[in-house]
Formats: sequence, structure tokens, C-alpha cells
Amino acid sequence: MAGFPLVVAITGASGIMYGVRMVEVLSKLKRKVFLMITKPARKVMEVETSLKAQSFAKENFWEDLFDPAARKYITYFDYQDVSTIPASGSYRTGGMIVAPCSGATLSAIAHGSSRDLVERAAEVTIKEGRKLILVLRETPLSAIYIENMLKLARIGVHILPASPAFYQRPEEIGQLYDFIVGRVLDLMEIEHNLFKRWSKS
Ligand SMILES: Cc1cc2nc3c(=O)[nH]c(=O)nc-3n(C[C@H](O)[C@H](O)[C@H](O)COP(=O)(O)O)c2cc1C
Repeated sequence: MAGFPLVVAITGASGIMYGVRMVEVLSKLKRKVFLMITKPARKVMEVETSLKAQSFAKENFWEDLFDPAARKYITYFDYQDVSTIPASGSYRTGGMIVAPCSGATLSAIAHGSSRDLVERAAEVTIKEGRKLILVLRETPLSAIYIENMLKLARIGVHILPASPAFYQRPEEIGQLYDFIVGRVLDLMEIEHNLFKRWSKS
């Protein structure tokens, strides 16, 4: 599935930069990205990035998150438009990454409710037997949340908590994003150089 676009959804959990960095890295690797950003994610963006409330009045607000070189590889989809290609299993993709993934989206995927494009694209990814990776961010975890994770893990969905390692002694925040983005790329079997691997023998 190397040449097919990867679907990346940014939802309303804390850690928006995990998703932004994911798209940046994929575009540097010349991978096409189908990007969707939920409305709650925009709220979190206001808090966690330089985008301001008024930025979201523009339809192409997402362009402000990426440089022009990265934008060449991105196709942006309105997260409410379930008539677009990521909603159909007949359109082939290389899989889907939800980063960060909220507990609300986790629940919707676990229950197959598919009420927006993010949820529908995830349902399609599962039914077509493609890789789905959820970069979850919540703490502490309720039993409901844990049951939703377990339900999806049992059918092969990759549960990848936004829980960076510290054994590389990170000195800047970007190294924390890159550790998580790198672990997602590992699961997608995409080569990268985003962090130093544990090498003690
Ligand atoms: C500033 C802010 C931070 C949030 N952080 C989280 C979080 O870390 N994890 C989470 O599951 N929800 C978080 N939420 C709540 C979600 O945004 C909310 O449940 C929303 O309905 C998720 O919708 P979505 O999955 O469609 O984006 C946060 C909300 C705000 C405004």
C-alpha cells in the first residue's frame, strides 16, 4: 500500500502537534495525505498552536499550519462531508492515523457510529482490513475508555497512546512529538530517522 494516500485525522484531544508533525513528516517523505480536522480539534488548536479563533473563519485555515512544500502533498477534507472519497471503501488508501485521538472519537469508532467523515473513514479502514492507528491522549482512563480500547485492539486496531519515552533524554518538546510520530511510522512500515533507537546489547 506504499503509494496510496494516508488518511490523517486530527481530533479534539490535547496534543494537536502530534497530528501536525505527523503530516509534516509524511509530506517530507513525499507521502500523500488526506487530512481532516474536527471542529473540537480547532478549539484545542486555539489553545495549543498559534492559530487564533478568527483563523477558522477561512475555509483553508489548515494551510496556516503547514509550509507550502508540505501543502503540496495534502488534500484537505471537510470532516462533516461524508460524500467525499475517504468515506468509500472502494477508494484505496494506505491506512489511517488519528492523532491526537479523543475519547469521543475512540468511542464512536468502537461503536461504528460513523456520524462524520473521521468516524466513517475509520470504519472503512477497519472493514477493508487496512491499518488504523489511534494516538490516544487522556489521563486517567475510565473503564469505558479502556473497554473501547480493548474492543478495537482485539480486531487489530493499533492503540498507540501519546506516551513518549524519556530514555533518550529529550531536551526539547519536538523530540517528544517525534518519538510518537516515529513509532506510528514504524507501525506503518515507513522508514524514518526521527529518534535514536534503543541500542544497548
Ligand atoms: C482544550 C481542550 C482539551 C481537550 N483535551 C482532551 C483530551 O486530551 N482527550 C480527550 O479525549 N478529549 C479532550 N477534550 C475534549 C474533546 O475535545 C471533546 O470530547 C470533543 O467532543 C471531541 O470531539 P472530536 O473527537 O470529534 O474531535 C479537550 C477539549 C478541549 C477544549
